[in-house]
Amino acid sequence: MKINKLLVGLLTSVTLVVGSAQAADLSIVSGDTGNGLAFLRSQLDKFEADTGHTVTVVPMPSSTSDQFGQYRLWLAAGNTDIDVYQTDVIWAPQLADQFLDLTEAAAGVVGDHFPSIIESQTVDGKLVALPAFTDAPALYYRKDLLEKYGKTVPTTWAEMEATAKEIMDAERAAGNPEMWGFVFQGNAYEGLTCDALEWVMSNGGGQIVEADGTISINNEQAAAAIDRAASWIGTISPEGNLAYQEEESRGVWQLGNAVFHRNWPYAYSLGNGDDSAVKGLFDVAPLPKGDGPDARSAATLGGWNVAVSKYSPDPEAAIELALFLSSTEVQKERAINQSNLPTIVSLYDDADVAAAQPIIPSWKDIFLNAVPRPSAPTKVKYNEVSSLFWSAVHNTLSGNGTAAENLELLEADLTDLKGGEAW
Ligand code: GLC
Repeated sequence: MKINKLLVGLLTSVTLVVGSAQAADLSIVSGDTGNGLAFLRSQLDKFEADTGHTVTVVPMPSSTSDQFGQYRLWLAAGNTDIDVYQTDVIWAPQLADQFLDLTEAAAGVVGDHFPSIIESQTVDGKLVALPAFTDAPALYYRKDLLEKYGKTVPTTWAEMEATAKEIMDAERAAGNPEMWGFVFQGNAYEGLTCDALEWVMSNGGGQIVEADGTISINNEQAAAAIDRAASWIGTISPEGNLAYQEEESRGVWQLGNAVFHRNWPYAYSLGNGDDSAVKGLFDVAPLPKGDGPDARSAATLGGWNVAVSKYSPDPEAAIELALFLSSTEVQKERAINQSNLPTIVSLYDDADVAAAQPIIPSWKDIFLNAVPRPSAPTKVKYNEVSSLFWSAVHNTLSGNGTAAENLELLEADLTDLKGGEAW
């Protein structure tokens, strides 16, 4: 008995010593959208208290394109200062070689996530990152204004345009010169690839590059969808929309100056914040459909993950952090506070989540049917594919050429980039 107690005591102190000897100073990079950084810090404080590790946040710009450019440089240079990266869903194939394989570490928890999301982060059998949240956009609309003018929630882009214009004109005439019909992400960056893929796909125009690698973007349905979006600029959407990312469009919307707004679910909790002019006045619907036989509502699949750098000097502690940030516990808090969509199946049946953010349970089918960007078929070339696509779209929106002209050039550029039968 006495010997047993002694042994237990000894083992405990050994564990404690080992535990403290392993305390690590970690760094994580994170983009800055809404109050995402403050939320991350609150979770990291808990992690620090539980583990004894310390974590420094290296803040990054909110544009995923800017983040990607920086991370690619750091990783290519074998940067040992950053242990953990927050990664966009589209990056896995491009950065796979630079991150540790998390298959073994996550073996006990991968089954809690939607299989399609785990699959999106698996490259040649290697689990490159653990999901933190998924993303699928909504059409945000002003309930009060639709009611005031006796309008229904639009289900086609044509209806959206007509309703946006009518309400915008009437509100301006009634004394709000700042009112606009529709705001979205029109800057030349990854966000425009997301918005434009929705216009094209919803109009039966395909997915830019199909799952089998075929370049499909140069078609009439795609051109018609992009020309239609170009007609919004200066009519229902401000000229300035050509420079908007998520946060700028949310700014106009949250001041109460737009009838409709395309954005991701994070804008839901912020729009209902105390400092929001539209608190309680809006709701969300699936994005509108286009025309033609293949028209459907299309949402681009987004989402963020946590990856561990293979250059991290503290890989074990860094993996602990990745597991923590993707855990059910943190995802639940993230859902309740940030209205980010969880990747953990059971959280869609969680009463606390549904009560705090009703968008979440109702968005499950939308993200499960969301359209992926062609990052899997175009592999390491995805970023260039996307940048050629958003440039062609941005040119069209800015009045530099018609969609048909720009998509023909895009097809030629994509064919050169592909450089042969396979990507
Ligand atoms: C959101 C999405 C992400 C996408 C980005 C575009 O953050 O989650 O996948 O690339 O928006 O701006």
